[in-house]
Amino acid sequence: MQRDYSPFTPGIPVPVEFFVGRQAEITHLRDKIIRASKGQLQIAFLSGERGIGKSSLASFVRHLVERENQILGLHTFLGGVTTLTEMVRRVFDRLLKDSLDKTWHERVKDFFGDHIREVGLFGVSLEFDAGPSELTRMVHDFAPALRSLSKRLHDKKKGLLIILDDINGLATSEDFANWLKSLVDEIATSSALLPLCLVLVGLEERRQSLIKLQPSLARVFDLISIEPWSNEETREFYLNSFSKVGITVEDDALELLIRYTGGLPAMAHEIGDAVFKKIWTDCLDRVSTFMGISDAVSIIGRKYVEPQVFRFIRSERYRSILRKVVESTNTEKLIFQRQELLSLLSQSEKGVFGNFIRKMKEMGVITDVPEMGRGCYRFCNRLYFSYFRLEADAEKKRHVAEK
Ligand SMILES: Nc1ncnc2c1ncn2[C@@H]1O[C@H](COP(=O)(O)OP(=O)(O)OP(=O)(O)O)[C@@H](O)[C@H]1O
Ligand SMILES: [Mg+2]
Repeated sequence: MQRDYSPFTPGIPVPVEFFVGRQAEITHLRDKIIRASKGQLQIAFLSGERGIGKSSLASFVRHLVERENQILGLHTFLGGVTTLTEMVRRVFDRLLKDSLDKTWHERVKDFFGDHIREVGLFGVSLEFDAGPSELTRMVHDFAPALRSLSKRLHDKKKGLLIILDDINGLATSEDFANWLKSLVDEIATSSALLPLCLVLVGLEERRQSLIKLQPSLARVFDLISIEPWSNEETREFYLNSFSKVGITVEDDALELLIRYTGGLPAMAHEIGDAVFKKIWTDCLDRVSTFMGISDAVSIIGRKYVEPQVFRFIRSERYRSILRKVVESTNTEKLIFQRQELLSLLSQSEKGVFGNFIRKMKEMGVITDVPEMGRGCYRFCNRLYFSYFRLEADAEKKRHVAEK
């Protein structure tokens, strides 16, 4: 039994061998990339809630097409990037770094010419180096630059996959929206082929924001939206991960894990990791699972819940309302109704309920659902809801234990 390392990787895109589910999305994306490699530009937008597995899916597909379809994949994280020049710099820097151990490294070096500098202690790494005016030119000449790269690598790589991940800073930039539109138009009207698949990754709000800035983008993006795991996928995830380290999972422990994960891969890794630390035999039972889940509550609270929300729900009265809200929420749609809830609240809770709802809306935790009439609310974020549910249950258990 190899139990000296945890098979869970909270907070980072999942290693390929632990990846679970998403068959339909993988096939869809892979087909697009293959189509792109035949010279037909493809653009996808991978959208979904925080922690649902967008980056992991992008990374998995990238590895797959690199290995099986002779594609060059560049996965660039653009968190905090707000300018096109920095975006282009990062894409090219990724290309340079990813090529370091490849047989075609020299050709990539040629492509960059003298825009390379040695960095790090003893110059062990290379960095793409270009001044502001050159970067501006590269933003404009992005398509021709990629065409030239693709020609240089034509006997090694059939197409390019560029993943622009975490585009939050760029999604509100008019420059970025216009640049994307021009890039698409330029590639579509040029007679020279460019085997490119561009994948943007971000929250659904980011896609909406880009479309608002440049409405024609609506028909450019092929939307791939990532939904929570089914119970079956969650089950497979836990069984697969635990079995990698020689641990079997009892049925009732597995049911608990599935319930609290709520289909969110980010939760699955946090819970899995906390539970893993509580295991001392090669079989996971209900008791260790409970103990691990209870540790996971505080870890998740600290890591994922914004401090102002965290402080707000420290108040005993609000907490008790929140527990009742969680109880009456539809776990699939994340919706609850004021009317239904009021019957669960005490007199004093009713007195502060208006305030509670107003604050929760202000903090972006819940939102109105106008299409369902007045007094209907939805949690904006599944992670928050799952955390509140974990908290509520942990609290209930504490009460029972104290009695
Ligand atoms: N298909 C999967 N199989 C196993 N684990 C996964 C899968 N998808 C995601 N995960 C895990 O879930 C967590 C969140 O995944 P990831 O970072 O890919 O989500 P994201 O949607 O990109 O999140 P964010 O919106 O914060 O960027 C990570 O710990 C990752 O390892
Ligand atoms: Mg991500």
